[in-house]
Amino acid sequence: MKCQLALLNLILTAVTFVHTAPISHEEIVENSAKGLHLLQFTEDSDPVWKDDDEELKLMRAGVNFFDVTETYEAEQGLQKARTSGDASVATTFPAPSHQSSVTPLLSKLSVSKMQSDLSSLTAFNNRYYKAQTGADASAWILSTVKSITSGRSDITASYFTHSWVQSSIIVKIAGTATSSPVTILGAHMDSINLSNPTNGRAPGADDDGTGSVNLIDTLRVLVSSGFKPSTPLEFHWYSGEEAGLLGSNAIATSYKSSGIKVKAFMELDMSGYFAPGSKEVFALEADYIDEGLNTFLKQLITTYASIPWAMDIPCGYACSDHASWYKQGYPSSFPYEAVTGDDDPNVHTSSDTTSISGFSWTHSLEFAKIAVAFAYELTA
Ligand SMILES: *[C@@H]1O[C@H](CO)[C@@H](O)[C@H](O)[C@H]1NC(C)=O
Repeated sequence: MKCQLALLNLILTAVTFVHTAPISHEEIVENSAKGLHLLQFTEDSDPVWKDDDEELKLMRAGVNFFDVTETYEAEQGLQKARTSGDASVATTFPAPSHQSSVTPLLSKLSVSKMQSDLSSLTAFNNRYYKAQTGADASAWILSTVKSITSGRSDITASYFTHSWVQSSIIVKIAGTATSSPVTILGAHMDSINLSNPTNGRAPGADDDGTGSVNLIDTLRVLVSSGFKPSTPLEFHWYSGEEAGLLGSNAIATSYKSSGIKVKAFMELDMSGYFAPGSKEVFALEADYIDEGLNTFLKQLITTYASIPWAMDIPCGYACSDHASWYKQGYPSSFPYEAVTGDDDPNVHTSSDTTSISGFSWTHSLEFAKIAVAFAYELTA
């Protein structure tokens, strides 16, 4: 996702006047049954109810939000838990130290495999979270990751189901030494055509086909090398990111509710484009991230990548799935394809394909390298 927000101030002003008491269980049941969505636009404001049409208008205007319809009640309890001092967030990470193991793995990453995986993903008419083709895309990812991991009894690959048809997917590689804390790499599987979400063509090649196939190839390389992490490692493909970070918010809320400790989270959402003529970088998101993890990410890039990092401007509240993990107090980070303005202008349309000028597989490969390094260095 990650849009620029022309109308943000207007929307926020409108939202500020809506100040409600805590929303009751009955109200949530009643309004959900009517198909309304409970949307949160800033950290400090109360969420507000919007219908499908209002939600789509906000999405078209580039306004980012969390859809908290199904997590609001759980999150109320978690916020109390957090202020009573249960946050145990690691904010320093040792510098990269496994170069002799990681560097040989990077040359095993395969642009042709990523290309082939992306062709399969973009062949679905769209991967909208409420469309059957969105569910079919999720099934395709599950069967692909199962074929990669099938020989390993220490790895599970399964759906995380939702109340809508497209399931998120979680691959878990057990730690050989401990079962906690877990390191997580995430991308979102869904795509959207903003003029016609349910039936319109939305190949979603860059948004977020690239991040999705970067993670599939990262998993493939780590598994085929026989890598067994000492602390647990997970790969997530989220449903419904475009409609308010639905999949990642459900999963991060569930992890927090279950007391799961997370060492680090990194999102890959768009890695295949930088504007022709612009400087090729990893653009590091500057807000709703953990500074210590960003320091580590900079070191990974300097150590393992062929291009430098640059800080992006703040992308604002709820701009991609890293925000779901941040919200629950977990260290999160998000390296993005280009600084804002040099990023892909074709997202959320039928033109989000690999054939546009500016799309680059060598660029996307750099993000897969950092994903391998992130996974290995944090879990070896
Ligand atoms: C949505 O899809 C239709 C075709 O299915 C296409 O004609 C239209 O241009 C698309 N809208 C956008 C914003 O790409």
